[in-house]
Amino acid sequence: MLALQRTEAGVLEAKAPLKVVFFGPEGLLGGGKALDEALGGRLRRAVEEAGLKGEAGESLLLALPEGYALLFGTGREGDGRALGGRLAQALLKTGFREAVAEPYGEAYPFVEGLLLGSYRFDRYKGKKEEKDLTLTLSGVEEGVLERARKVAQGVAWARDLVNEPPNALTPRALAEAALGLRAYGVEVEVLDEEAIRALGMGAFLAVAQGSDEPPRFIVLRYRPEGARARLDLVGKGITFDSGGYSLKPTESMATMKGDMAGAAAVLGAFLSAAELGLPVELRGYIAACENLVSGHAYKLGDVLKTLSGKTVEVMNTDAEGRLTLADALAYAEREGAERILELSTLTGAATVALGEEVAALFATEEAFGERVQKAAERAGEKVWPLPLEGSYREKLKSPVADLKNVGDRYGGAIVAALFLAEFVRVPLVHLDIAGPAFARKAHALGPEGGTGFGVRTILELAQAL
Ligand code: BES
Ligand code: MN
Ligand code: ZN
Repeated sequence: MLALQRTEAGVLEAKAPLKVVFFGPEGLLGGGKALDEALGGRLRRAVEEAGLKGEAGESLLLALPEGYALLFGTGREGDGRALGGRLAQALLKTGFREAVAEPYGEAYPFVEGLLLGSYRFDRYKGKKEEKDLTLTLSGVEEGVLERARKVAQGVAWARDLVNEPPNALTPRALAEAALGLRAYGVEVEVLDEEAIRALGMGAFLAVAQGSDEPPRFIVLRYRPEGARARLDLVGKGITFDSGGYSLKPTESMATMKGDMAGAAAVLGAFLSAAELGLPVELRGYIAACENLVSGHAYKLGDVLKTLSGKTVEVMNTDAEGRLTLADALAYAEREGAERILELSTLTGAATVALGEEVAALFATEEAFGERVQKAAERAGEKVWPLPLEGSYREKLKSPVADLKNVGDRYGGAIVAALFLAEFVRVPLVHLDIAGPAFARKAHALGPEGGTGFGVRTILELAQAL
């Protein structure tokens, strides 16, 4: 665990057993220069003699007459968030219990990076691998620390939910977790199977029916006094996706506990928004279930009646997310949504198109799409627009129903987005986060596993409404 505190003292004067000193291609940076002068050029000589270039990832632990210095390369790019993340991981590896550093670049992203980078998921481990460390930040305002803590708390919760194994995080457990938001002033309503049936969510129920674990529909409301706008959020909540009778091969199924990452992002954003006291009304909707195989499971050729009234012919049981989302989106609209941001690990095709780090953005209204894209940019989350190409809509034509749930093998992410757009009239932005929601290896801002992708974009968007 990494705890942060602040001081007015510079790195030179501050008392700590370990002092972080940044250096780039042009040499020592900021307060490191003053420390170096006080030490008669010892730091600069160490960098030179070790042949360090100031690249990101370079580091050197150096004994000083009093205490130690961690020389840390920044590279040329100037991404303070990523640097903060890498620094947190390096500091935790040293085994020191206390250190001091000044921010690199703008304080906020750097501090956020520190907190995100120090995230660990070790609740199922026998012993913790790292010691706790308190990092004192020189010249950072308390408000910056406070905000970063609240944002990182939501991201960490989203990551936890994704990282939880699917035998623990069932649809009922996800609903229980959501109920925990009540303690933060969020209204939470959980509909059970009977209530879901009474509403007429035939597509959601069809996906859920293959599992002995009952589905849950989660409704969230954050209504601060004097809210200046409203944003409705929908997150895909498949707690495990086996593919159903269109069964996935083992390698593809291995990370499918993460198929509720959209739901996790929505929950994480509610937690942070409530903690921050964001002056915007938020509504959230999560259709939570498992997609399994059994004598009760839905089949290819089944025709489902969605909440919207439209019928869908199932042509692939692994295209389950869009079925659950169709009903969640229709429900959001019934609840009076003015605009909907929906997040889902929806298609492998989005990952084929944009790789593992970039989410695909689809917008039924250009202005709303641009707002989400700008919000993601500010948040440091990578998204890129793909077209809702209308001529592909015919791929979804069914001989027996209003729609079928898959097209052919081309443009899969677009076709999935077109399918979702059939179920809402208000402006919709769909973020396909199949790539960035789950990291296959450790990265600057955290370990492998759930990334909490989307939480920060939602917060930036809501803040700017
Ligand atoms: N949950 C998957 C999409 C996914 C794939 C998420 C890889 C994260 C990583 C989704 O339910 C799915 O199976 N989609 C199918 C759609 C196809 C049947 C049209 C896919 O991408 O293969
Ligand atoms: Mn699937
Ligand atoms: Zn899925």
